[in-house]
Amino acid sequence: MKRLENKWSDVDTVFLNSLLPAEEDHNYVLKVNREAELPQIDVSPLQGKLLHLLAKIRGAKRILEIGTLGGYSTIWLAKALPAAGKLYTLEANPYFAEVARSNIATAGLENKAEVVVGNAIDTLPELYNELKNVFDFIFLDADKQSYPDYLKWATKLAAPGAVIVADNVVREGEVANVQSTDERVQGVQQFLKLLSEEPRIEATAVQTVGSKGYDGFILGYVK
Ligand SMILES: C[S@@+](CC[C@H](N)C(=O)[O-])C[C@H]1O[C@@H](n2cnc3c(N)ncnc32)[C@H](O)[C@@H]1O
Repeated sequence: MKRLENKWSDVDTVFLNSLLPAEEDHNYVLKVNREAELPQIDVSPLQGKLLHLLAKIRGAKRILEIGTLGGYSTIWLAKALPAAGKLYTLEANPYFAEVARSNIATAGLENKAEVVVGNAIDTLPELYNELKNVFDFIFLDADKQSYPDYLKWATKLAAPGAVIVADNVVREGEVANVQSTDERVQGVQQFLKLLSEEPRIEATAVQTVGSKGYDGFILGYVK
């Protein structure tokens, strides 16, 4: 397995060298996050670029992210917005939110990206009361136990035609283990069940390998 993981990382490096020009190198954010001792659970650079491209392809003007950490994926997503676009990112940990705000300011995105501090289960209803269903791109990347709740809120907050991306749904294959006692795996399994019963969303899943190991994401389209 270790040999395979090394190979995946080598291939990620080849793609990074070919596909990420210097102006798209946001590695300084990852460096700040490491120095601030944040957990190393940001998306990979290639995943960040994928989110950026998906938001651009969608022509997203209002983006919602659940799970900010130090703002690495936030910066990739906010850079896909047009001049008048806006991103809201929800983070429970006040210290992580502070690091993210500083990174967002360094990237010159403080007018476009707003960090909302608090448990997303509490801040999502507030956001809905304020903005209703304005979001055309939603990225779920917080605690996996709450993915079923996040799906319900994403469905409410999404505008028709919105794209929903839910990260870390493979969990090294554990999602296929129906006996799993891991609450995060159970959260993803319940999320998938709800998704299968949700007529408003067409979805697929992509399994991924790379510098972050073996995982994957759900890609959904809100009709
Ligand atoms: C995987 S990290 C996000 C990584 C980030 N999207 C990136 O790629 O740069 C998940 C984040 O969700 C936050 N989180 C966990 N539970 C939460 C909750 N209930 N409400 C809001 N944020 C939460 C964690 O503190 C953590 O910073």
